[in-house]
Amino acid sequence: VGRALAQLLIRKRLELRQRYDVAWRAVGISTGSHGSLWSPDGIDLDQACRLVESGGRLESLPGEPVGTPLALLDRLDTGVMFELSPVNYETGQPALGHIERALQRGLHAVTANKGPVVHGAVLLSALAREQSVRFLFESTVMDGAPIFSLWRETLPAAELRGFRGVLNSTTNMILGLMEDGQSFEQAVSKAQAIGIAETDPSGDIDGWDASVKVAALVSVLMGVPMTPQQVERRGIREISLTDVQTAAGRGQRWKLVCEAQRQGKGVSGRVQPVLLQAEDPLYGVTGTSSAVTFLTDSLGPLTVLEQDPGPETTAYGLLADFLRATLGDLGLGG
Ligand SMILES: NC(=O)c1ccc[n+]([C@@H]2O[C@H](COP(=O)([O-])OP(=O)(O)OC[C@H]3O[C@@H](n4cnc5c(N)ncnc54)[C@H](OP(=O)(O)O)[C@@H]3O)[C@@H](O)[C@H]2O)c1
Repeated sequence: VGRALAQLLIRKRLELRQRYDVAWRAVGISTGSHGSLWSPDGIDLDQACRLVESGGRLESLPGEPVGTPLALLDRLDTGVMFELSPVNYETGQPALGHIERALQRGLHAVTANKGPVVHGAVLLSALAREQSVRFLFESTVMDGAPIFSLWRETLPAAELRGFRGVLNSTTNMILGLMEDGQSFEQAVSKAQAIGIAETDPSGDIDGWDASVKVAALVSVLMGVPMTPQQVERRGIREISLTDVQTAAGRGQRWKLVCEAQRQGKGVSGRVQPVLLQAEDPLYGVTGTSSAVTFLTDSLGPLTVLEQDPGPETTAYGLLADFLRATLGDLGLGG
């Protein structure tokens, strides 16, 4: 995602300048295993991407090595930090600490990492307000599709009563491959081979990734703090090849469905395999696509469908947040 963002920033450089009067310079990068670099005059992002892709380390580029992301942040007091480290479902760390430090230093923080949103949205948003900067996380749910900004910027005075969606690409793809006749194990291997499923796919298969997304949507859009552990969760391990094939024979499909409903002052969240009829709007959400239907007090069911996303789509959500941080929301403010 970091490399896709670098390429998008490069591709849009002229457009950002001409349409928004925004110019950017990358001054620091800190990675897990490809080194770190601080260069106040600007890092050549294209060169940095090529170096990392060929297995090199950032220290070989002009500039100074800085070590950890926190050490890099301590050298900065303005700008935008993109937090793109791997998700930690249990605690949100180390991303949570990176974002907290960035905000304390007076930087805007933009992330695609769901961990800090479910484990620290309230604290981090309050800190951002205190520091007069932004904490934005559009890409954490449904990649680059507008979800958080849709509510923040375009739906004034509407109340979210609940939602229902397919939000995990890996399980959706695995169930689709099983429909085509592959065993669960073959489908997982194929999803891993094309880079959709992780080496340890249990975060997706057991419903954790989907639960984190439900918790993020409930906490932010429904105003009721929810942790992934509070989401009632069942993954897809219990769905056999026979179940999938029998359903297909009847014109039905199993999908891992995410749901939440307001109940009095609280909200209940659930992730579970559901047998869908062909008329269900989620039935046609196939492959790595995802969709969510919002149930509001003011509109009929409102659905956002994102087809075949990839790291480039996620990068777009980050770029959009970068512009919001720099220019302010383009819609209703907030
Ligand atoms: N892939 C998508 O389309 C997508 C969609 C939505 C959200 N996201 C989220 O976006 C984030 C990045 O996803 P990705 O697919 O790019 O993951 P990835 O390929 O695993 O890349 C993770 C990056 O974080 C670096 N890193 C690892 N540990 C770090 C640490 N302790 N401190 C600083 N950097 C560290 C890694 O550096 P090294 O490579 O040097 O180890 C690498 O650059 C994740 O939180 C993911 O959940 C991804």
